[in-house]
Amino acid sequence: MTAKVIDGKAFAARVRGEVATHVAAMKAGHGITPGLAVVLVGEDPASRVYVKNKHASTIEVGMNSFEHRLPAETSEADLLALVQRLNNDPAVHGILVQLPLPAHVNSDLIINAINPAKDVDGFHISNVGLLGTGQKAMVPCTPLGCLMMLRDHYGSLAGLNAVVVGRSNIVGKPMAQLLLNESCTVTIAHSRTKDLEAVCQRADILVAAVGRPEMITAAHVRAGATVIDVGINRIERGGKNILVGDVDYASAASVAGAITPVPGGVGPMTIACLLANTLTATARAHGLAEPKGLTA
Ligand code: GUN
Repeated sequence: MTAKVIDGKAFAARVRGEVATHVAAMKAGHGITPGLAVVLVGEDPASRVYVKNKHASTIEVGMNSFEHRLPAETSEADLLALVQRLNNDPAVHGILVQLPLPAHVNSDLIINAINPAKDVDGFHISNVGLLGTGQKAMVPCTPLGCLMMLRDHYGSLAGLNAVVVGRSNIVGKPMAQLLLNESCTVTIAHSRTKDLEAVCQRADILVAAVGRPEMITAAHVRAGATVIDVGINRIERGGKNILVGDVDYASAASVAGAITPVPGGVGPMTIACLLANTLTATARAHGLAEPKGLTA
């Protein structure tokens, strides 16, 4: 079987285009410009790249981008004070504090200090609870991106068997909740799961979010299944530094019905969904109709 390649790069460009159209209409019709504040503490090279890309994409769709770069030794109190300022700033509709934070800062404390209505990452405990109870929430960007691609591929997901490999708060758990809300039968597997291959073989939808390069192979994939690869791992191969997912692409693609590549799969959807969430947060803050197709 030749798997259909799910083109996340093209899909994300479409989502960003839709967001830009809504932003233009908001500006013209209501004089409102959505604003996203991104807070980066320290010099982690990967985080710096993410934040730079977020800034460029935010500007590109016509939103205001507010960047706050703070030194690694910034105190928890100073960071809390910045979050409070952003909470109270009417020009800021979305707040993202880039993770990981330095070890001396309590990440949970900072994330839970963000106004849940501005929590475009969907990490605040209120949003986690709202999602878990099927209520209107801000939904974490990467799982939202995966959901959009799955809805596009299947239409209805009801009754499908979904296996999520990985139980992180950022991807695995919210992904499982979203799939459950779509009436999938959901299994969460993880590093202690027994006979992972057999568990994964039950999946119509297999989401890999473990952070281990190429660990999911053809042996894990049922013929015709849809494989969503959330992993972004840098490895050395043939003397080169390359990006690979949590899925061994060539192996899995030989049995899957559809598969997301790395790069160019889930990755670009994350920033597109961050912009979609910022738009949604802005609409909610001003009592405007929520854009369709850009929320969970
Ligand atoms: N670090 C890696 N992924 C993410 C994310 O989705 N949000 C934030 N805030 N930090 C991250």
